[in-house]
Amino acid sequence: FIKPFDKEPLILSIDVGTTSIRTMLFKKTSEVFKKTQINYTSNNKPDGISDLCGINDINNNIIYCLNDLFKNIDKTKFKVVSIGIANMRESLISWNSNTLTPSSQCILWNDTRNKNLIDNLKSKMSNEQLTYFKKHTGLNNLSTYFSAGKLRWLLDNDLKNVKLFNKKNEFIHVGTVDSWILTNFTKQKVFKTDLSNACRTGVFNLDTLQNDSNLFEVWDLNYNALYETKKIRFPEIVSSSEFYGHFDIPSHFKQLEIKIFLLSWLENVPIQGCLGDQSASLVGHLKFKPSEIKMTYGTGCFLLLNAGTERPIVGNCDNKLLTTIGYKFPFLDDGKLVYAIEGTIGQAGFLVNWLLNNVNLVKDIEDLTEILKIFNIKQDFNDIVFVPALTGLYAPYWDDNCRGAIFGIDGNTQQKDLVIGCLKGLALQVGIILEEMKKYVNGNKMDISIDGGLSQNDEFLKLQASLLLKNNFTLIRNINHEATSFGCAVASAFAYKNVNDRVMWKNIDDLKEKVSFYHESLNQGDSNVFICSDDIHKLNKEYRRWNSAVKR
Ligand code: G3P
Repeated sequence: FIKPFDKEPLILSIDVGTTSIRTMLFKKTSEVFKKTQINYTSNNKPDGISDLCGINDINNNIIYCLNDLFKNIDKTKFKVVSIGIANMRESLISWNSNTLTPSSQCILWNDTRNKNLIDNLKSKMSNEQLTYFKKHTGLNNLSTYFSAGKLRWLLDNDLKNVKLFNKKNEFIHVGTVDSWILTNFTKQKVFKTDLSNACRTGVFNLDTLQNDSNLFEVWDLNYNALYETKKIRFPEIVSSSEFYGHFDIPSHFKQLEIKIFLLSWLENVPIQGCLGDQSASLVGHLKFKPSEIKMTYGTGCFLLLNAGTERPIVGNCDNKLLTTIGYKFPFLDDGKLVYAIEGTIGQAGFLVNWLLNNVNLVKDIEDLTEILKIFNIKQDFNDIVFVPALTGLYAPYWDDNCRGAIFGIDGNTQQKDLVIGCLKGLALQVGIILEEMKKYVNGNKMDISIDGGLSQNDEFLKLQASLLLKNNFTLIRNINHEATSFGCAVASAFAYKNVNDRVMWKNIDDLKEKVSFYHESLNQGDSNVFICSDDIHKLNKEYRRWNSAVKR
């Protein structure tokens, strides 16, 4: 007979990304004890459509991932103490509050079907409204990217005829993916969203930390009418690290055997960490201090700079980079909310998939790596400038209408030049964003901690480093490849008010000590440090050509 506290504690993280669901178990050392992943494909159709039709697929895939995860783990030796959730941000879902039946598809963050609608709203917006929007949301302008524009589209389409007259307490719940998961996977069926997700909707006011009816209006949404007439409800906005509810299996899931098996592991385990995936990876990279930066190459590419606990406002509030919420851990240190400055690029992994599957410019990843390798040695490729704005151009330009463009093609241009041009486009946009970020960090040299799919490719990172200036930047690949999942695990570990209840890590110092102990034992070496370029003339030329291409 082994008492529960004799078992080794593990934290479970559930990460719902744009193209995959990943579940992981972490040990105190940050070591991944076990992980599982299910990839899924969104509907990518003409006219900018990118959605998930079968919302319950998110739930089912989480369950199947968990089912695989716990297979063959000895229950007498291990115990899950808490659960954290990380999710793709901005994507929007709606459902019936009683039955939890989806009332719409899940429109993904990179969906641009509402482009005309957004253009129209922008043209009607007064200067005062735009100033108010920028000042209080920290975002740049209305965009297809943020959730509120997706809701505007849903109201004209999927939700147009949904009427709930039958039951008094029946509502349409509209929320981001975190609120969908929390509702479905807690016994309490809570309807909540965390601050790092809420601040990406376009109706959240960074100064009041609540939704703002003036901001609803700029999206042509009337909060009161939605509430009274449409019976639409939005989730309660809460911190990133607190008790949300105990784990449960969604009631629509009928496979009893799996249900019983999972509940034998997770019944009564608290879900108590919740972060938008980019905030989760800021935490997972352990970037707890102001001016520290992380960069993740996911479906898109996301650079986040820890901006501290004071609300950051720079210069004339141009918001070329977004002000966003890093995290709020109420029970840690002074419990203050931590802001972040974000540089967002719409496509990273998406570009690689496009090269592989849409235009077949490369056969497979090995092929891509081989081209990069030759380029990194010779650097004498035909000069192509490729602006890879496949779903619009995000930071620092924010142009929903911009689409991909290739400049400089001549009779010598080969397939490999196009491939390199495309990846250079991503790397140059990173460089432009980092230049903007320098405004927030008092001129110090910046160490950038990186993770995500493309970061595992040394040749791509060499190319990235060759387009950044050595005096300003160093690229360091994080040994912890699973920063996003680890970040939400950390959020759940700190959700106890009483330090003695924290079985994994007592505080940030303790966390860093345990993590570094494990990492040092891996014998890191320098293979994760990528030195940038000192060829300032070459860099000037590259960025001049990029800037001129973007203008055109
Ligand atoms: O803002 C969108 C972002 O949260 C999606 O992240 O990891 O799915 O590319 P990812």
